[in-house]
Amino acid sequence: MSDDSRPSPPAGPPAARTAAVIPAAGRGVRLGPGAPKALRALGGTPMLIHAVRAMAASRAVSLVVVVAPPEGAAEVRSLLDAHALPERTDFVVVPGGQSRQESVRLGLDALPPGHDIVLVHDAARPLVPVDTVDAVIEAVREGAPAVVPALPLADTVKQVEPARAPGEPEPVVATPERARLRAVQTPQGFDRETLVRAHRTVTGDVTDDAGMVEQLGLTVVAVPGHEEAFKVTRPLDLVLAEAVLARRRLNDGF
Ligand code: CTP
Ligand code: MG
Repeated sequence: MSDDSRPSPPAGPPAARTAAVIPAAGRGVRLGPGAPKALRALGGTPMLIHAVRAMAASRAVSLVVVVAPPEGAAEVRSLLDAHALPERTDFVVVPGGQSRQESVRLGLDALPPGHDIVLVHDAARPLVPVDTVDAVIEAVREGAPAVVPALPLADTVKQVEPARAPGEPEPVVATPERARLRAVQTPQGFDRETLVRAHRTVTGDVTDDAGMVEQLGLTVVAVPGHEEAFKVTRPLDLVLAEAVLARRRLNDGF
């Protein structure tokens, strides 16, 4: 379904249309043996479907590009066909790559024209609330080329000289001031042209897309993240995710 047939709003500039790219091609090694992480069930529904619904819950998002495990694109397409999305949301599925960075780039390559704002959201963060998604989009609309949802840290962080063998004591070399540190989540939001340029020009190891925009010398801003936007990484995270879903079901019952 495309929005093109709808009448345009009576006044003001047309709102920028937003697309979400969801990298979901990872194996989930830290979660342990089993299906690719994005296809594992949470509350009986694949994690990826939760993540797609979380993006589609925002009224601004009219397209979702899912970057599937390389051999799983057909399976992901039929999963998306089987789970209802809002009428206003189209989806596209493409096979992913060897690294998250490559998977995101393949997703960007599949973006049709007409979307000026792009979100990049980990399939592994299935429970991000729609208010967080909307806050990221809003900050891009207000002019930031790159926006990250971020939370203060509970733990103090130490920089160490990494051990040569696992389990060996590691010398601590610094303690950054905790109040100035943030843990960064997704969806990260971008001016589309900026993100495409970052993915074309920045090479080397980066763990998030906003970091690539920083390397272009542009300003990245942080907006408040949400504790339910945590990343499902290790087995204990599955327990927490199931508990969050159970709490939501309980609250919806009232
Ligand atoms: N991802 C991807 N393509 C890759 C690697 C990762 O699309 N080649 C995606 C994952 O599917 C996930 C997101 O990037 O949604 C964040 O990565 P991470 O949490 O590290 O997931 P995995 O790489 O699957 O997990 P692990 O590192 O434990 O194997
Ligand atoms: Mg990984």
